[in-house]
Amino acid sequence: MKVKDLEFKEFISAEAIDQKVKELAAKVSEDYKDKTPLLLPILNGSFVFASDLVKELTVPCRISFVKVSSYNGTQSTGQLKTLIGLEESLFNQHIIIIEDIVDTGLTLQKIVEELRALGTKSVEVVALLRKKPAREKSIEVKYVGFDIEEEFVLGYGLDYDGLGRNSKGIYQAANGQ
Ligand code: IMP
Repeated sequence: MKVKDLEFKEFISAEAIDQKVKELAAKVSEDYKDKTPLLLPILNGSFVFASDLVKELTVPCRISFVKVSSYNGTQSTGQLKTLIGLEESLFNQHIIIIEDIVDTGLTLQKIVEELRALGTKSVEVVALLRKKPAREKSIEVKYVGFDIEEEFVLGYGLDYDGLGRNSKGIYQAANGQ
């Protein structure tokens, strides 16, 4: 499959993803069986995964899509990133962040810390894919679908320059591109 200038080959089939989503949903449903978690899928990439995952959950839950924005703080030299789009109160809530892929996980780690400081009852992360840098840095992700190396992937919500999100399977850039 060609997307823009790159050739991609199938990496994880739609069937394997489906099976994994069911397994993840079963674990989450078991762990939250007496709770009503608030799910926070991070846009854009996690919209497909979040949609399939919630359909398999057997616990009552709320869902609120959020986005990570980056901006230059006036008093900071570095780039600050924060969550936008939050409409629900987080106080006393069990939060589950839904991510498509965790690569370095640095933004995610900061978001988890921020949410924990906001009077939430608990904050956990479910990610469909986790790359090697996140494992090496021990970024906390309680529920992981697939551990992968550092290959660039697209499909199932993930994009290459905005394209490829609508593929049912996950594809990998061919020839180590
Ligand atoms: P991190 O902050 O380095 O963990 O990057 C996470 C975000 O980068 C994900 O939510 C994706 O939007 C994007 N990303 C990281 N790796 C890939 C990839 O292989 N394909 C598509 N998007 C990716």
